[in-house]
Amino acid sequence: MKTIQEYTVIKKSETLILEASSWEEIIVSVRKNYVKVLWVIDKKVRPLISLDSLDKIIEIDGGEQCKTLCGFEQLVRLLADMELDRTGHIVAVGGGSISDLVGYVASVYLRGISFSIVPSTFLSLIDASMGGKNGINYATKKNQLGTLHQPSSIYYLPGLIAHLPIDEMADGFAESIKYGLILDQRLFEKLEARSLEKIIGNKEDLNDIINSCIIHKSNIVKEDPFEYDRRLILNYGHTIGHAVESIYGLSHGKSVGLGMYFAAKLSEIFYGLDLNLAEKIRQILPAYNLPIRLEVFSAQAIFQKIVSDKKRENEDIHFVMLEKIGRARIEKISLTCLKEYLNTAEREKWMC
Ligand SMILES: NC(=O)c1ccc[n+]([C@@H]2O[C@H](COP(=O)([O-])OP(=O)(O)OC[C@H]3O[C@@H](n4cnc5c(N)ncnc54)[C@H](O)[C@@H]3O)[C@@H](O)[C@H]2O)c1
Repeated sequence: MKTIQEYTVIKKSETLILEASSWEEIIVSVRKNYVKVLWVIDKKVRPLISLDSLDKIIEIDGGEQCKTLCGFEQLVRLLADMELDRTGHIVAVGGGSISDLVGYVASVYLRGISFSIVPSTFLSLIDASMGGKNGINYATKKNQLGTLHQPSSIYYLPGLIAHLPIDEMADGFAESIKYGLILDQRLFEKLEARSLEKIIGNKEDLNDIINSCIIHKSNIVKEDPFEYDRRLILNYGHTIGHAVESIYGLSHGKSVGLGMYFAAKLSEIFYGLDLNLAEKIRQILPAYNLPIRLEVFSAQAIFQKIVSDKKRENEDIHFVMLEKIGRARIEKISLTCLKEYLNTAEREKWMC
């Protein structure tokens, strides 16, 4: 075949991550850049901020229930009623569910308008707000519809996170343990030496951890925005984690914690290591209110869920392994091999 033309599209999309000292400072910053703005606010966050000077707002229930076609349509209708054009802007104030929904709406409305995020959960601050992934759920599948669309700004307002229930904090900490395991031994050791309660009670430690996590996630996203290779390591613990989450209804962070433990056991076998990796994870999880056991563990059910997972590639699956604390590698393993490991885990009661 004859090539007529080959071209590359370079899309300039910069994200600024800013720490705000007050809610008013965020409003001023948004107003400086945009005239017409829709503020989409999680109802549970609403009492923590003042809406007085905001022109157009909508309050919605945060959590998975907002990531639906109905939630999507509600926002699109509002934008159309406002006659928001391509110079308009949307601000998501809430956790990962709100920013996933808003990011998706912003990416498709008028073929894409800009948006910003004010994360109100620890998880969204150190993970979900960065990287441009968005999405809504469809039928029984999570994030079945989605795009990659980078936010213009992410505003960290410490006061919002301070009101988060401890269980929600614990969920986010599963991701910070993950960053330590895959990228940063110092971070892991810092977390290992402390506990959820101790870190929450120490502003300096909390800020240090937040900063490390933000730097790790944003660096990886910068290196591989479209998740072709390097970014895949962020899925450490997520292959099993997602299956556990959907089968047993455990929260995302708790499921990922168990997934990280399984992946460490697998890494030890796969690389023939004797580094006590899995044992270290078994010890750190309870210190962050994350479980190390399930009441039931069905290798068959988890395997079936993974087979129907979108990351499947023919008969192989990308699986993130640990070579040591602070270094991860992506390996392709066959589904047959994974099935054997899951059967071993059930037989030897790794997780129950
Ligand atoms: N796009 C990504 O890269 C990415 C990454 C990780 C997770 N996610 C998505 O993020 C979602 C989970 O997000 P999440 O864990 O941030 O929480 P969430 O948005 O699901 O909210 C969880 C609960 O906390 C409440 N809440 C939010 N902020 C609060 C506050 N400051 N004080 C008290 N309550 C508050 C919400 O109303 C909700 O009831 C999932 O849908 C997941 O798929 C996306």
